[in-house]
Amino acid sequence: MIKSEKIKSAAIRRGRVLVVGDVMLDRYWFGDVSRISPEAPVPIVKVDRIEDRPGGAANVARNAAALGAKTSLLSVVGRDEPGRSLQQLLRREKVATSLHADATISTTVKLRVIGRQQQLLRADFETVPSHEVLASKLKDYQRLLKTADVVILSDYGKGGLAHIAKMIALARKRGIPVLVDPKGEDYSRYRGATLVTPNRAELRAVTGSWTSETMLNSKAQALRQRLGLGALLVTRSEEGMTLYRRGSRLHVPAQAREVYDVSGAGDTVIATIAVMLAAGEDMESAVRIANRAASIVVGKFGTAVVYPEELFPAQAKE
Ligand SMILES: Nc1ncnc2c1ncn2[C@@H]1O[C@H](COP(=O)(O)OP(=O)(O)OP(=O)(O)O)[C@@H](O)[C@H]1O
Ligand SMILES: [Mg+2]
Repeated sequence: MIKSEKIKSAAIRRGRVLVVGDVMLDRYWFGDVSRISPEAPVPIVKVDRIEDRPGGAANVARNAAALGAKTSLLSVVGRDEPGRSLQQLLRREKVATSLHADATISTTVKLRVIGRQQQLLRADFETVPSHEVLASKLKDYQRLLKTADVVILSDYGKGGLAHIAKMIALARKRGIPVLVDPKGEDYSRYRGATLVTPNRAELRAVTGSWTSETMLNSKAQALRQRLGLGALLVTRSEEGMTLYRRGSRLHVPAQAREVYDVSGAGDTVIATIAVMLAAGEDMESAVRIANRAASIVVGKFGTAVVYPEELFPAQAKE
């Protein structure tokens, strides 16, 4: 057991994961509220601490890197301060970045203002990247594919994956597995992917709701088949996750003991599956390990990552 875990961690470090998608910066302004503004009936926050965290596809990449895989990230940011902040954060977390800085857009930022432990306001900055920039990204993608074992396409619906169908086809032609975290109602763009990982709400948006497990099974299988997917993984929060493949269904119940913060659990799931596939595990084993990773990450505050010592504790004792 211990020996096989050791081999696993060596294999993980050899694995190469390419993440492509919409990156964003999660920015927090923390401060004290001591008075109400004379200008409008709103609180005044005196900001004393700012925290930046990689979000969206950047959080997926950070999760893959934390597990030990060689991780690169291809995306578009604005030519601005949040874009540079993202770059810096990712470098610190050992993600190799190909971030195109597009002067015509602003980096997607979700700014939360927090006073008295309470979120008072969220302000979003975002613009859809231009077609020229996305086209030049496609060239980069083809170059990066040559050194990738697994590709993750992390769709946050911000327009960074305009060429997703092409990207899936290019990877599949090389026999590289493609995992997609979907968004929106049009899943035809994901045709031919190896695995698509909707959560319950995302699945509901394309198949309509279900009232029984049997109904869910048939909706999931019909979608998988219609899109020609190798597999469909429905992540079901406290219900765990269910993997659908041709003629088979595997349900893995959630195992979290303490749940503090579920945001970003889906990012951890797709990153872990990619890392495990890149390390040579099969899909079923990758999903079981990802479920364990998710149960660990929901016990941490903020969008967090999981380290190999937590996932394979036998090693830590050696
Ligand atoms: N409340 C919970 N209790 C136990 N496990 C959970 C809970 N929420 C999430 N998990 C674990 O995390 C996995 C992914 O969660 P979920 O289905 O909520 O993904 P998601 O909605 O894509 O998350 P996010 O978009 O916030 O990253 C679940 O399959 C489960 O293993
Ligand atoms: Mg998600």
